[in-house]
Amino acid sequence: MKGKFVTFEGCEGVGKSTQVEMLKKYLSEKGGDFLFLREPGGNAVSEKIRELILTKDYGEICGRCEAMLYCAARAQLIDTVITPALNEGKLVVCDRFTDSTFAYQGVARGLGADYIVKLNELTCGEVTPDVTIFLDMSPEEAFARKGGADASDRLESAGMDFHRKVYQGYLESARLYPDRIIAVDARPAAEEVFTAVLSALKGAGVEL
Ligand code: TMP
Repeated sequence: MKGKFVTFEGCEGVGKSTQVEMLKKYLSEKGGDFLFLREPGGNAVSEKIRELILTKDYGEICGRCEAMLYCAARAQLIDTVITPALNEGKLVVCDRFTDSTFAYQGVARGLGADYIVKLNELTCGEVTPDVTIFLDMSPEEAFARKGGADASDRLESAGMDFHRKVYQGYLESARLYPDRIIAVDARPAAEEVFTAVLSALKGAGVEL
């Protein structure tokens, strides 16, 4: 595939969407062929799956069902959007991808690393990120900054123990994939974090 695939990861409230927006603005001003996506979502089917996963309307969803729903949304996004864009040589930037499944379902929901690694491989095949920016901030700091969790969001309101495990999951994923995942300290001001994000991406060979 000719294009580059970049993903952003991190716990809730670490400023991930802000960094993704800043990168989008930066690239829009410079010009170039890029595409920004978020997971789960990015096409009609995956957005529907997103609604199903995030709503509290249907009560509890078991861990395996949740993991497979995220992967179903991802499969559709890969086949209909990501692969065609990479084949056209675009830079594809995705807000969350396989490391979220590893951290949230694999570690926090307890399905285990082996299960999620296999599931991610079955879902993605060749389509793996070239670079992943992990915005590193503990959930304690992130929620304090954000002013608490969004009670209407099933995952966000899952409790501090859950989010601590998510964070541990990200640290484990970063240890498993050191060639791909770059941890960026997310605690400084957004502008400073963005400077670090740009230099990490450039250092990893992404043309910006
Ligand atoms: P967002 O709030 O960044 O849009 O992400 C949606 C929620 O879905 C967030 O709580 C993280 C969660 N999530 C998983 O649990 N597993 C996954 O594979 C993905 C992509 C997201």
